[in-house]
Amino acid sequence: FDYLPLAGKAVMVTAGPTREPLDPVRYLTNRSSGRMGFAIAQAAHSAGARVILIAGPCALPTPAGVERHDVERASDMYSAVMARIDEADIFIGCAAVCDYRPIDEAHEKIKKGAQGIDLALVPTPDILRDVASRSPRPFVVGFAAETHDVQSHARGKLLAKNLDMIAANQVGDGQAFDVDENSLELLWDGGGKSLPQQPKHELALALIKVIVERMGLP
Ligand code: C5P
Repeated sequence: FDYLPLAGKAVMVTAGPTREPLDPVRYLTNRSSGRMGFAIAQAAHSAGARVILIAGPCALPTPAGVERHDVERASDMYSAVMARIDEADIFIGCAAVCDYRPIDEAHEKIKKGAQGIDLALVPTPDILRDVASRSPRPFVVGFAAETHDVQSHARGKLLAKNLDMIAANQVGDGQAFDVDENSLELLWDGGGKSLPQQPKHELALALIKVIVERMGLP
């Protein structure tokens, strides 16, 4: 950035996967590497913002100047976000939060037996939806990772979760998760913008520029 459009603003970013324990040694998770969210945190900092990064388990260095909080479960991420959300002018939910968790966490390792076992799963709290339903609320940006019908699913989420913007990407077949490059389809009420395939660091800067424009910041 040749000027600091987010000077004086605070940005909260969630990144990475979450880990939902089954027992002391096993968990459910997903393929998120955290790279997109970490790149966004770095880009927001380079735009002059104070950045709070809430990170699920991922082996990435903390971007310089960014305040990082590590969490494991979706419920921990929820608490960490809500503890500080009042400070945020912008919330970017980039984490691949597990939508379900095992209903019980066994306190001892589940033993192998001859039979199969049924896993009962229950939904996790939707962090993004609850941030967007606060009043007053920050400018709220969600992500939608979709394997098919990317645009229509993303537009559905924009409306259902009452977001200011959604960043949609195609996943599966080696795309988006755990790779260095990505493309994003940005959508908002009445418009949108495509950000073409590029390294995640450049994509993150482009995303921040569009957020600045949509917020009407100078
Ligand atoms: O509904 P879906 O999980 O596909 O929506 C994805 C968006 O919602 C992402 O921005 C993700 O960070 C956020 N999300 C969340 N809490 C959840 C599930 C998803 O914040 N429990």
